Amino acid sequence: MSGLINKILRLAVYTLITCTGACAQSLASIESKEAAIEQAQAVSNSFLGSLKSELVKAMAEGGPKNAIDVCSRKAMPLTESSAKSASYVAGLKRTSMRVRNLSNAPDERELKVLNHFASLAASNEEMPQYYLQVEKENFHFYKPIIVDAPCLSCHGTKASLAPDVLAELAKRYPEDQALGYSLGDFRGLLHVTLRRGN
Ligand code: HEC
Repeated sequence: MSGLINKILRLAVYTLITCTGACAQSLASIESKEAAIEQAQAVSNSFLGSLKSELVKAMAEGGPKNAIDVCSRKAMPLTESSAKSASYVAGLKRTSMRVRNLSNAPDERELKVLNHFASLAASNEEMPQYYLQVEKENFHFYKPIIVDAPCLSCHGTKASLAPDVLAELAKRYPEDQALGYSLGDFRGLLHVTLRRGN
């Protein structure tokens, strides 16, 4: 009997040790600034790439009105799944000074960075590829999002939008502020938060 208890105890201790290892792994962190930039770039590119290909596919299949549906259903889940793609990713968010979906509205920290990029854009200065903040617990990586030609069918001027797209947007997003953009405009940021180790 005591042999069995011993076995159970040993198993429990073993499980505890493996779990501690696994738990530490599930909260993996990044140490150097260079590694943070590299990982954040990879997460950003993969997220923005998947979103763009979903969008292009939906537009080719059923035009921009159909793609609005895909965009509103897929943008959030894609953001969540990309955020979980690596254990050191503590957050992933698209934000803008003029949002379509209010749940993408910037917090105070993001607003400051948005203002910084917007002022660079306003003075026609070259947009940096990214901006990195190093804090005690986290790295905050921000990638500027620029308006490209395919974006204009849903973020262009009211006059340039197809009437069915305009109507659908008004129906789904009565407080939409994300219209009126032109090619090359600064649209917003992708904010990636990475856990920082010491
Ligand atoms: C088919 C229409 C459509 C196209 C094309 C489109 N978007 Fe959007 N965009 C949307 C919708 C709908 C939302 C709101 C998504 C949601 O509900 O989360 C959105 C949200 C966003 C957001 C998040 C901030 C906010 O306003 O809520 C950004 C940033 C953005 N779009 C940038 C772009 C860029 C850059 C492109 C071109 C590469 C693009 N969009 C193309 C429809 C579109």
